[in-house]
Amino acid sequence: MASRSTEVIQYLVETQDLWPKATKTKDLENEASRALALLNEEEKAAVLRYYFVADAKMSLASHLLKHWVVSRYAGVPWHDTKLSRDTNKKPIFVDPVTGTQPVFFNVSHQAGIVALVAVAGYNAGQVDIGTDVVCTSERRIRDHRAIDTEGWGSFVDMHADVFGCSEAGYLKSDELLVQGLQQQYVAHTVDSKLRCFYALWCLREAYVKMTGEALLAPWLKDLEFRHFSAPAPASAPKQPGEAITDHEVLFHGQRVDDANICLRSLGPDYMTCTAVRTPGRKEDGLGWELGPFEFLTIEEIVEHAEAHLGD
Ligand SMILES: CC(C)(COP(=O)(O)OP(=O)(O)OC[C@H]1O[C@@H](n2cnc3c(N)ncnc32)[C@H](O)[C@@H]1OP(=O)(O)O)[C@@H](O)C(=O)NCCC(=O)NCCS
Repeated sequence: MASRSTEVIQYLVETQDLWPKATKTKDLENEASRALALLNEEEKAAVLRYYFVADAKMSLASHLLKHWVVSRYAGVPWHDTKLSRDTNKKPIFVDPVTGTQPVFFNVSHQAGIVALVAVAGYNAGQVDIGTDVVCTSERRIRDHRAIDTEGWGSFVDMHADVFGCSEAGYLKSDELLVQGLQQQYVAHTVDSKLRCFYALWCLREAYVKMTGEALLAPWLKDLEFRHFSAPAPASAPKQPGEAITDHEVLFHGQRVDDANICLRSLGPDYMTCTAVRTPGRKEDGLGWELGPFEFLTIEEIVEHAEAHLGD
């Protein structure tokens, strides 16, 4: 039986305005010393290796979130939240005593936002979970330049190797425009097409990260999202917008019926996607509600950590 206390956890951390005096990655050693002190030496070194401070900040927040979710939801003292990787290199936490995973989680970072999704308290078997966050405007100038020069079709084709068999064709088809119009925003502009492009990207990344196989997956071409569309943008920054939960997904030509996938807009420019499944009892994962993400601050994480260092 699935535990009654199963929790689905979805948080976002904004990193753009954190540690404003850190203009170079090295500055974080001083400016973010309290947060860095919560990581082990290997993690700290990985954060400080980033060339751009913006990437280092997201990496720091990502490490903190992974430890936080284990400590907070599995009641593990902070210093015992030792993370490892599964055979596909997906970060996990395995309880050293029971050999089980009390919390299944995944993170994603893009354009200053770090997303965490997790399932805790599920005692009925394995949970596969993945997330992705995209920002449609981060490369807007570059995307528009490429599309102006090469055309939409070539832009899509440049990325076709990571899409499923039918997806590039769909992105170039008139049907995409019809889907867009149904959402009542002008579908023939380049930005609307780009929004559909990034929606597909977000869906695929969350799905492949759910499976854990990520880039190693030999079946990337055989995963197909059909008739996909982008959720309408939300008007204010940080505001959760439209969610799309009904997806036609094919794997090796067969309909996927065991994955719960929620693609949601966040503010005018971001989209998040969560994909989850419970292979042992598919109805459990399919029944979980994937609501809007909540925001969490680094301060809240640091305070929790410092209060539960060794318990
Ligand atoms: C590893 C991979 C999943 C990272 O994806 P990304 O978009 O570069 O980065 P994201 O910010 O979304 O995710 C990074 C996080 O993925 C997690 N991750 C690493 N390996 C993973 C795996 N095998 N499975 C799931 N998650 C993984 C890590 O926690 C990492 O964050 P961290 O280093 O701070 O811990 C990516 O390289 C990949 O394989 N992507 C899928 C391939 C693909 O086809 N993409 C195109 C889809 S359109």
